[in-house]
Amino acid sequence: MKLQPLLCTEAQRQHWLQRFASLPIIRLTRRQVSDVELLGNGGYTPLRGFLGRRDYQSVLTDMRLSDGTPWSIPITLAVPQDVAKFVKEDTTVGLVDPEGKPLAVLHVRERFHYDKQTEARLVYGTDDEAHPGVAALYAQGEVYLAGDVEVLQLPEHEDFLAYRLTPEQTRELFVRRGWRTVVAFQTRNPVHRAHEYIIKCALEIVDGLLLHPIVGETKSDDIPADVRIACYEVLLSHYFPADRVLLALNPAAMRYAGPREAIFHAIVRRNYGCTHFIVGRDHAGVGNYYGTYDAHHIFQHFAPGELGITPLFFDHTFYCRRCEGMASIKTCPHEAGERVNLSGTQVRRMLAEGKPLPPEFTRPEVAQILMRAMTASGGGI
Ligand code: ADX
Ligand code: MG
Repeated sequence: MKLQPLLCTEAQRQHWLQRFASLPIIRLTRRQVSDVELLGNGGYTPLRGFLGRRDYQSVLTDMRLSDGTPWSIPITLAVPQDVAKFVKEDTTVGLVDPEGKPLAVLHVRERFHYDKQTEARLVYGTDDEAHPGVAALYAQGEVYLAGDVEVLQLPEHEDFLAYRLTPEQTRELFVRRGWRTVVAFQTRNPVHRAHEYIIKCALEIVDGLLLHPIVGETKSDDIPADVRIACYEVLLSHYFPADRVLLALNPAAMRYAGPREAIFHAIVRRNYGCTHFIVGRDHAGVGNYYGTYDAHHIFQHFAPGELGITPLFFDHTFYCRRCEGMASIKTCPHEAGERVNLSGTQVRRMLAEGKPLPPEFTRPEVAQILMRAMTASGGGI
């Protein structure tokens, strides 16, 4: 699919910056800034801005825009009632980051109320406020502002600039490296051996890997992005051939929407130029809201080829002492007692207690970084 970045030309940018002071201004949250970045850089192709009512309804009920294009997570701009009442339809508003820096203009076509419970049930499969994605939805404003967006400048970052690649840049790098097939790996965690295994299984059949961790907002008990990035660097440098991998950061916020987010993650990685996408156990899940393989089954809603990226499905993987290697329930016949399996909660507890992570679970170089981060933060990762 041809990329449609909504970053405007320099002339348009000057045009809007000169008028910016006269526009009604909306200050965005960090999550909303992430969406503007992905609209601006083409990661959300083919969206033209924040969804209007028709597209919104259609995404909720059918996982498609109203013209039939697959799209599973509504990209919307929620504002509180008292802000919405100052915004008229068919006017232009300025969008600024939390520090007040101009980022974009929104040509407001529609303002509409929506039902948070309905959206929660349809997108997240639950209206439980204990679900972090649902909690974020309940915390946002009551009115959606919709319309085309022109991004004046992509949000600026201070750290990890070398990894902040736009879809245009990753696509170009893939071409330059001669990669015709590229698998994307989504993650919000350090890469443990189970992850490494499924990545390497995929790497056996494609030309290259885009390791594409989410670094937008994640829930507070997820491991912070800077610690994770240190883990990715050390893992890649010790255990992967440098010419087969590319590390880049995905500025999106985590939604924890499980199956629907798997579709969304795949579409966004297609836009970054990938041909294949890894979907493992409980992809983008949290707690017990989703079945272990719901994120596999949901792909059946789309015809082969329709998403423009091929999902690669993996069952639960682990280290098996009898197999003496990584395996999955598809390849290992042994008892559960032979398998090294740790939950995120167990990992955090072991780190907090200063217990070493088993090398069958996490590479020692990675474990060391996690341990050090845990000590430095006084147990707070
Ligand atoms: S998230 O997107 O699912 O929240 P996470 O870092 O937890 O990110 O997982 C990254 C990817 O690895 C997802 O596709 C997930 O399904 C897969 N995955 C994680 N752990 C395992 C495992 N033990 N076996 C198989 N797949 C896994
Ligand atoms: Mg997970």
